[in-house]
Amino acid sequence: MAARIVLFGATGHTGGRTAQALTTRGVRPVLAGRDPARLEPLAVRLGGPAGALETATADVTDTASVRALVGRGDVLVTTVGPFSRLGEPAVTAAADAGAVYLDSTGEPPFLRRVFEEFGPRAERSGAVLLPAFGHDYVPGTLAGALALAEAGERAHRVDVGYSLDGVRGQGFSRGTLVSLLGMVLEPGFAWDGGRLLTEPSGAREWRFDVAGRTRHGLSVGGAEHLTLPGLAPTLQEVGVYLDWFGPVTPVAHRLSGVTPWLARVPGAPAGMTWLADAVGRRVAEAPTTSEGTRTHVLAEVRNANDTRVSRVQLAGPDPYAMTADLLAEAAVRAAAGQVQGTGALGPVQAFGLAGLTELAATAGLTRA
Ligand SMILES: NC(=O)c1ccc[n+]([C@@H]2O[C@H](COP(=O)([O-])OP(=O)(O)OC[C@H]3O[C@@H](n4cnc5c(N)ncnc54)[C@H](OP(=O)(O)O)[C@@H]3O)[C@@H](O)[C@H]2O)c1
Repeated sequence: MAARIVLFGATGHTGGRTAQALTTRGVRPVLAGRDPARLEPLAVRLGGPAGALETATADVTDTASVRALVGRGDVLVTTVGPFSRLGEPAVTAAADAGAVYLDSTGEPPFLRRVFEEFGPRAERSGAVLLPAFGHDYVPGTLAGALALAEAGERAHRVDVGYSLDGVRGQGFSRGTLVSLLGMVLEPGFAWDGGRLLTEPSGAREWRFDVAGRTRHGLSVGGAEHLTLPGLAPTLQEVGVYLDWFGPVTPVAHRLSGVTPWLARVPGAPAGMTWLADAVGRRVAEAPTTSEGTRTHVLAEVRNANDTRVSRVQLAGPDPYAMTADLLAEAAVRAAAGQVQGTGALGPVQAFGLAGLTELAATAGLTRA
């Protein structure tokens, strides 16, 4: 019998889409959130003729309520963010229960904590932690892993670039905007000289060509830094870049030099959180429209002489559709016992390269 799938954050934008993606796959997840009055109508609508889905009430401010969501062998999918502020109770619950954990985070400090702090705890209980299993950072990890497999022992450096085409109006959900703003003063990281290096997000730039246009990416701490080196022993440098910020890109790059100092100014981090929440109250929950939006991801591998030795380009649908499908498909496969290993794992380590390629294709993410 397949394990239980519990979806925490079902009443949010990404959670709602993930719930839909799960039921489309014939699964009946437990819908969890802090407001039963909002969970019930969703459970009825998505439950269909078989009756309402099961619901569970949990609030991250009451850690026992989150711990009660999962038992050994269950699959917990969480979209409750910003993760740096709200994510800890769910990953703690899964790590302690021996469950499989999947989340939609894109926040570098939280992602790093999952690997460094919660990974060893999960290994002891037999849990599996699969953070950032959405648009951030499955496509870049897959493109990078495919490019590294082609490069073999020639691989010295891999650069991964993310770009979007066809975005109109409010390109990001409220939850993403609040999470992104909350990261401005937080440290990022890179894989440099064969080790993980703390540095501000946006400290590096990369110009890359995809789909007939040159993109201007800013560096971010991604899952690629934490999981690709384990696939390629010769790898010394990993760069991950987002071409998301349009005309603000050069300013953001220059500002990255002062963010570590700004972060130390008394009241600055709290002020940034206040600003993020204030922006969150003024924008719509959902992005304006995702029709026609396309994701492009490029991975390029270079040898020690800085000569390009492989290049893999992937394309897929808009980030929210992709995130919902990736989370749902991974949850279904995890519930069917298809995840290998324990502890905090990258997508390739958990599903294998062929398995991840197949999983990603179900979310519309394929080689361009
Ligand atoms: N990496 C990616 O590619 C990607 C893609 C999509 C989203 N994301 C991330 O996923 C997160 C969610 O995004 P979203 O657009 O879905 O945001 P959202 O619509 O604001 O949803 C946030 C969810 O968190 C819940 N929540 C807030 N406080 C809570 C608490 N104290 N206890 C329990 N639940 C609580 C909300 O419940 P209520 O409904 O009761 O308020 C809601 O269900 C963000 O961090 C975003 O950056 C990442």
